[in-house]
Amino acid sequence: MTKQIILNAFDMTSAMHNSHGLWKHPDNQRTRRYKDLDYWIDMAKLLERGLFDAAFFADVAGVYDVYQQSKDPAIRDGLQIPLNDPAFVVPAMASVTENLSFAVTVSTTYDHPFSNARRFSTLDHLTKGRIAWNIVTSYLPNAARNFGLDNMVKHDERYDMADEFLEVSYKLWESSWEDGAIIEDVVSKTLTDPGKVHQINHNGFYFNVEGPHLSEPSLQRTPVIYQAGTSEKGREFAAKHAECVFVGGPNPEKIRYYIEDIKARAEKWGRNPDHIKALSFLNVVVAETTEEADLKFAEYNKLWSPDAAKALYGGGSGYDLSEYTDQDDYFEYKHTEHGQTSAKSLTKDQPKKLTVKEVLNRFETINSNNVLVGNPVEVADAIQYQFEEAGLDGFNLAHFVTPASLEEFIDLVVPELQRRGIYKTEYAKGTLREKLFEHGSSVLPDDHPGRIHRQSYITK
Ligand SMILES: Cc1cc2nc3c(=O)[nH]c(=O)nc-3n(C[C@H](O)[C@H](O)[C@H](O)COP(=O)(O)O)c2cc1C
Repeated sequence: MTKQIILNAFDMTSAMHNSHGLWKHPDNQRTRRYKDLDYWIDMAKLLERGLFDAAFFADVAGVYDVYQQSKDPAIRDGLQIPLNDPAFVVPAMASVTENLSFAVTVSTTYDHPFSNARRFSTLDHLTKGRIAWNIVTSYLPNAARNFGLDNMVKHDERYDMADEFLEVSYKLWESSWEDGAIIEDVVSKTLTDPGKVHQINHNGFYFNVEGPHLSEPSLQRTPVIYQAGTSEKGREFAAKHAECVFVGGPNPEKIRYYIEDIKARAEKWGRNPDHIKALSFLNVVVAETTEEADLKFAEYNKLWSPDAAKALYGGGSGYDLSEYTDQDDYFEYKHTEHGQTSAKSLTKDQPKKLTVKEVLNRFETINSNNVLVGNPVEVADAIQYQFEEAGLDGFNLAHFVTPASLEEFIDLVVPELQRRGIYKTEYAKGTLREKLFEHGSSVLPDDHPGRIHRQSYITK
């Protein structure tokens, strides 16, 4: 069978995600309705109608505060604030769907593995195995101060923390409870066999956790693991832990390079590279005709907020664009403790060096390099090109006006992709992991490093 596109809706339980300034669009329902459960229930039904694999929820632990050394640009334009906790909408969305899955972002720098493990086990139970965890290490100075730190934990150390966070998580999910621990034996008056529920006794550098895990094993035990971040450390982390990677890059060649690099590193961990799926960012403006799509794109551009776009970039990269004044200088890479993916995106990852003027100009309007604008055939051509050229498995689809942009995609682009045989016409059966992977396992496959804890970790 032809390889089929995995498709997630890229979202956030906030008034605005990354459609900077588009909260001003009269059809944008999310700005007012993101805090209503009905909105998310409608969204779930819509996404399942479009056979989306998952609703993918980004999340942050603070306000974007690098640009202009201020939180005001982000707050003024609703850049990922106000923001609710994504985990709470998932059970409601799951209750009206059968196949749609959910990826929830949680930071390993500002959460704790014990409480996080229970959160994901609960979600996996309530959704019957339709949960993924998007692991992020966080980059906002405000987030650090929200959690009692004067400064951010340094970039590479954040990944060391994340690695130990995962070790604790695997112990809780994979080894704490044996299968069949719940026996409901009225005669011996035993609901759960204590001999099959193990402490994990983790004594590490960052975390000490006794256990046992409070939740019994869910269908997937460990949620499907997503990761984004293409620094050296990020790729090494992805190669060891991730089952899905969210890879960005300025062109298909660069994205392909990162995917191949992560897969090659995964083989060194003894993993089958086919057990990692790679997704990238996608944004589409589609209409019945090219002219209508162009008009719509022009309308969106009028509402665009350069300041919100610069604030997002500032948090991700650590580069405060308000400080760059000399327009003809080259925009040089410099090391920061923020995200390398963002820092490299307009420097090292560019095919040719950009000047400050060129960089600043990119924020003034919607970057047309990141958006596919056209009629259904033109959009499907471009998606197919990216999918094949970059060696991708799928996309996280952003949306300028919600839910209108998603409805248009589902009504106009999905049938065209289906006609080409590169998008499913029905859902596969099973848990999210079973739907995504040919290995057919609901729990982590045997070659995943997290499985070590399942087989050998004995506490009692
Ligand atoms: C496509 C993409 C999506 C991301 N989504 C989030 C997010 O929702 N929340 C967050 O705190 N960080 C997010 N990040 C940041 C990464 O998790 C990571 O912290 C950052 O990229 C630094 O890692 P790196 O230096 O390896 O790129 C995202 C990064 C990328 C590339």
